[in-house]
Amino acid sequence: MNERNQSEQTRNVLIGICSVGAVFVSAPACVAAFVLGRLLRRRHGWLLTAAVAGVGVTALFYQSIVGEMGRALDALESTNRPLEPGAMAAAAWPHMRTWWFEAIGIAPALALFTEAVRSKSVEEQHRARDRARERRQERRERRARRALGAEPERPGNGFELGRHLAGDRLLKTSRGRAQMLLGRMKKTTLVVGAPGSGKTETLLRLAHGTASVTDWSVFVLDAKGDEHTLRRFDELMRHAGRTPLMFPQDRYDGWRGSGREIANRLIELIDWAEEGGGTYYRDLSVNLVRLACTAPQGPPSSSRELLDRLDRNTLADLWAGTPRAKDLLTFKDEHVAACRHRYQAFFDAVGGQLDGQFAFEDADSGYLLLNELLYGEETSKLARFLLEDFKQYVAARKQEGHQVLLIVDEFSAIASGERVARLVEIVRSYGASLVLAPQAYEGMGGDEAASRILNAAHTIILHAVPEPEPLIRAAGTKIEIEASVQHDSGRSLDVGSARAQHQYKVSPNDVRALQPGACFVIGSGRAQKVQVAPTSTTGIPRKPQVGSEEPPASDPPVDIFKPPDDPLQL
Ligand SMILES: Nc1ncnc2c1ncn2[C@@H]1O[C@H](COP(=O)(O)OP(=O)(O)OP(=O)(O)O)[C@@H](O)[C@H]1O
Ligand SMILES: [Mg+2]
Repeated sequence: MNERNQSEQTRNVLIGICSVGAVFVSAPACVAAFVLGRLLRRRHGWLLTAAVAGVGVTALFYQSIVGEMGRALDALESTNRPLEPGAMAAAAWPHMRTWWFEAIGIAPALALFTEAVRSKSVEEQHRARDRARERRQERRERRARRALGAEPERPGNGFELGRHLAGDRLLKTSRGRAQMLLGRMKKTTLVVGAPGSGKTETLLRLAHGTASVTDWSVFVLDAKGDEHTLRRFDELMRHAGRTPLMFPQDRYDGWRGSGREIANRLIELIDWAEEGGGTYYRDLSVNLVRLACTAPQGPPSSSRELLDRLDRNTLADLWAGTPRAKDLLTFKDEHVAACRHRYQAFFDAVGGQLDGQFAFEDADSGYLLLNELLYGEETSKLARFLLEDFKQYVAARKQEGHQVLLIVDEFSAIASGERVARLVEIVRSYGASLVLAPQAYEGMGGDEAASRILNAAHTIILHAVPEPEPLIRAAGTKIEIEASVQHDSGRSLDVGSARAQHQYKVSPNDVRALQPGACFVIGSGRAQKVQVAPTSTTGIPRKPQVGSEEPPASDPPVDIFKPPDDPLQL
């Protein structure tokens, strides 16, 4: 202990001598070194470069500095008044002032020296070790990728998500701008946040960024039915040179694909009983819908045609002369009628909006607004129908190699976690990316579904939530130093101890305190705090894509709640 105290003392004396020397050579350089040391504490590379440059510049003035020092000495001698410090200072000052400013270039070198000799806290030492380890690891990974010919994505291959605030550099960050690379967008992203935390704004940022820099199709399924967001999406897509499909204003064609695919979509509509006597009727209805959709004459092409087919006599005519005709005899009239009533109730509520001309494959972007005021309790069924159609579109109708992004806002309102987990697992292999936005971990459909979705999510954009714990686990832990000070009846004894322990990289309290638009971007065991840049259409508009029709700017606003021109008459 004594030995340590002695070496500490020697170090302090040396530092003292050096400080006096530094002030003598250039007091302004000492002040500048103090400021630089504060500003560039974590940027040793920059400091080193500045130090080399600064020392080089000062070397150019070397002769002049030495000359000024000599002249100051001569001036002091010529005053002949050694007992009058004021007079001596006045004589030496003009020369001193000159050499102080000529030697100001040594400031970065002084800052670097101070940084090297200053005693560091245990926490700083740990952080420095962590950083060095991370850098070594990154270098090793880069070398391995290069050796395998798998170069990482170039930074230009993405769009700006927002400004870096703190934490790991999970996103490509340059000059404080955090970029979302397309490689990350290709995988599943979760955007989680309490009401008003900035989820929708972030979703719009992702949609607009993707639409601006890629030719991917971009769709939003809005379970909250926010008309204002629909209008902003429309503006943003047009700004990116797209011609978006706007449901329900543009009626959707729900009758694409084979009879079997249409039947699968229709089966998704009904809240079937999974157990008990209800399963018997469920199976009957599944069979009826399959018979109605896979008849030899081809699948139905409208809701009217489907409802017409859900009739025992019509089905018997459709299947006449085939072995299936006999199966039809086993159905009772009331079973067929019950099945038809279910579908009729749904198609009545939807009001012909699934009998339109557009489907996912016809648009480069689209907003599917599911308005609960319009569809009532059928809203979630409509969402399930559209999600099933999306699944079939990416699997069978999408052009091979074409990438699609589907953003589902407030998905917990429309689909069970189990369904969404299946969707996530299936669509990725077909070149579709998903962005899902629940309000909380609890809104992801129970522990099992939530952990499936979480495991499939490559990136979590976490806005303020009251219970962030299950989500911040994905960011991993860091070593934090817990310091304690010994005391005697409350009086500090100036003796302390430090204990290293693992703590979550993202503190739950920091998540709770996030302002609207601020978030933690979590992935690959890292977490970066980012302020999402709000979307705007004031930048230079992108050139419209070939073949897309730009509507006249003076188009009147669309009333999306206006009933369609020819609603389905039942
Ligand atoms: N990136 C941002 N920058 C600045 N302000 C923002 C940002 N994101 C959101 N806000 C502010 O917060 C408000 C709410 O944002 P937003 O509608 O995106 O939240 P939300 O999480 O989708 O809420 P809800 O769950 O109610 O839909 C916005 O109207 C805006 O004023
Ligand atoms: Mg929202």
